[in-house]
Amino acid sequence: MNKEILEAAYWLKKNKVVAIPTETVYGLAATIYSEKAIKEIYIIKNRPSNNPLIVHIKSLTELEKYAQNIPEKAYLLATAFWPGPLTMVLEKSDLIPDYITANKNTVAIRVPSHKVTQELLDHLDFPIAAPSANPSNCVSATTAQHVKNYFEHKIPFILDGGSCEKGLESTIIGFENSQPIIYRLGALSIEKIEKIVGTVSFVDKKATQNPLAPGMFLKHYAPQTPFHLETEITSFLEQTEYKNIAFLGFSQSITHPKIKENFLLSLNNNFEEAAKNLYATLIEIDSQHKFDAIVALPFPNTDLGKAINDRLTRAAYKLKT
Ligand code: TXA
Ligand code: MG
Repeated sequence: MNKEILEAAYWLKKNKVVAIPTETVYGLAATIYSEKAIKEIYIIKNRPSNNPLIVHIKSLTELEKYAQNIPEKAYLLATAFWPGPLTMVLEKSDLIPDYITANKNTVAIRVPSHKVTQELLDHLDFPIAAPSANPSNCVSATTAQHVKNYFEHKIPFILDGGSCEKGLESTIIGFENSQPIIYRLGALSIEKIEKIVGTVSFVDKKATQNPLAPGMFLKHYAPQTPFHLETEITSFLEQTEYKNIAFLGFSQSITHPKIKENFLLSLNNNFEEAAKNLYATLIEIDSQHKFDAIVALPFPNTDLGKAINDRLTRAAYKLKT
């Protein structure tokens, strides 16, 4: 038995907030049964109280304890992809407190596949609620060090599970008339999902006033350094006043006097590798404090390129003032 896992279990049982690794990103976790601990998650993250949390359970066999009236396609998806980076929004059972779901009658549930967190859940007799371990609107953490930089002294323990294998948050699916709707693009590609349940639809991204998943807010996942997503990169570079630019790309670097460094996410054009490196690279660029802007090129819009483009678009989104 791993001493660190036991320590994380100890704090969770004492209704404390601890950081946990998952295959997607790190989470800030607490038992779903402590309202005080859950409130603390919102405070630590500075998260709006209308944004509900994902509940992490041990396995599919537990699903019916926490959700009800589960559509057939939800079972198909869970069987295909759990444990793994798929979250499903389902009608909640009475075992899920209202403070987890921001008073909605639905609950977001997933079974994480990270070995360390699987073992942690084996030591607990309650599910854990965990949003991503970053302050609201900041880039998600994919290493224990990222979590430490964000939250040292605010939580008693960080369970280190290495760097996250996927590096992007889970894909979130809800159901309308039992048909799947994508609420958030993520580490499980649409192509893989459609192989199991056929064509899926997408929630209207412009519905930002009262979004089904507040993770759909356009401004999200943003680095501190001004971020630009540009299709016409040459003309952007000619016109911009920035002089020290970090270029963020897939595999091809760009040579230009204003580009001081190229940050390439996968030299062999591998989407999985690029996704895994995305947040860590944004955090690294921020931490160097020497670039006045980041400029990125959109990825090919297929496979995980779709989820990567979604995050790049959000990083570049400017609130209208
Ligand atoms: O990969 C992940 O999903 C990570 C790891 C830690 O599991 N968690 C994560 O949590 O990304 P968070 O809180 O950063 O994003 C959860 C998203 C939010 O956009 C939230 O609005 C949405 O899930 N959500 C949660 N409950 C919901 C519900 N009942 N209906 C609709 N959306 C919901
Ligand atoms: Mg998040």
